[in-house]
Amino acid sequence: MGKIVSVQRYLVETQKALPDATGALTGLLWDLTIAFKLIASSVNRAGLENILGYEGEKNPTGDDVTKLDRFSQDTIVRMMEHGGHLCCMASEEEGKIIPIPRRYERGKYVLSFDPLDGSSNIDANVSVGTIFSIHHRRTAEGTDGTLDDVLQRGRDLVAAGYVIYGSSTMLVLSSGTRVDGFTLDPQLGEFLLSHPDIRIPQRGTIYSTNEGYEAYWDERTRKYIAWVKSREAGPYKARYIGSMIADVHRTLLYGGIFLYPKMFQRSGRGEAKLRLLYEAAPMAYIVEKAGGIATTGEEAILDIVPEELHQRVPVITGSPHCVNEYLAFYRGERA
Ligand code: AHG
Ligand code: MN
Ligand code: MN
Repeated sequence: MGKIVSVQRYLVETQKALPDATGALTGLLWDLTIAFKLIASSVNRAGLENILGYEGEKNPTGDDVTKLDRFSQDTIVRMMEHGGHLCCMASEEEGKIIPIPRRYERGKYVLSFDPLDGSSNIDANVSVGTIFSIHHRRTAEGTDGTLDDVLQRGRDLVAAGYVIYGSSTMLVLSSGTRVDGFTLDPQLGEFLLSHPDIRIPQRGTIYSTNEGYEAYWDERTRKYIAWVKSREAGPYKARYIGSMIADVHRTLLYGGIFLYPKMFQRSGRGEAKLRLLYEAAPMAYIVEKAGGIATTGEEAILDIVPEELHQRVPVITGSPHCVNEYLAFYRGERA
């Protein structure tokens, strides 16, 4: 039987391996795991809201009582703003960057996050998750963080990961060298290392995309999907949950390909859905560190320099063999 390793122990050991580590990143990640446990416990009680009577109520100032995605957002902010590790935050739920209140210290990192990905699925008991990523700040230490600190390439991330609140709660994390997965023991309230050194399978036979939008896709993507369904070696299996976090997590473990291409229904330019900073870049970071590929079709997602907080990009990610097959179609080398 192997070792039992808690996430706390893992973070300390990882820090020891880095000669210039000060413990700030370790502290930041540790604080995050507490926020994730709070969100997990709330997500697990989601269906009880009606019986327990805290859904649909108004607070004293007349606002609706927070929904789970608002709760997740607030939990992360309240957990992270006073730790002294961050100079600002950015969230899918906020239009602007989230400053650190004056009364707290400003740190050297920036946190970007999607507090609850796939939240429209929650009433059907489908997996949802939190996605996060951490950059070093670029502006002077001790000052307020700015947009410049947030708008950085995925390639320059210090760490990223996600937590999936599924049949069990799992944290998947990379701080640059490898990808490790931790499962929450609900009785202990501890994340334990359950999936050390995750490597994505080189190839797979599952494709995952919202095929209902096929009519909006570019011709080459349509041809690729037609091909996966008519391959001589047998068709790929279709799996689409509609929570990116769950669809990419499955792709990471079982192999295959996840696609959310541009859609051309409104403007000739085509519009993507998934957000670069909060969804695409952190998931791309995990997939690449696990040996996979994440691309827009034109370029690696990690190479895109964000121009705005809520920029959206196409996402094609998964096993290297499968994504390269897609790229051959996308580049017109196959038809
Ligand atoms: P969010 O719940 O954070 O707004 O994100 C939902 C995203 C993503 O999780 C998923 O892959 C995608 O929306 C599903 O989109 P479609 O419903 O268009 O397939
Ligand atoms: Mn999302
Ligand atoms: Mn979200």
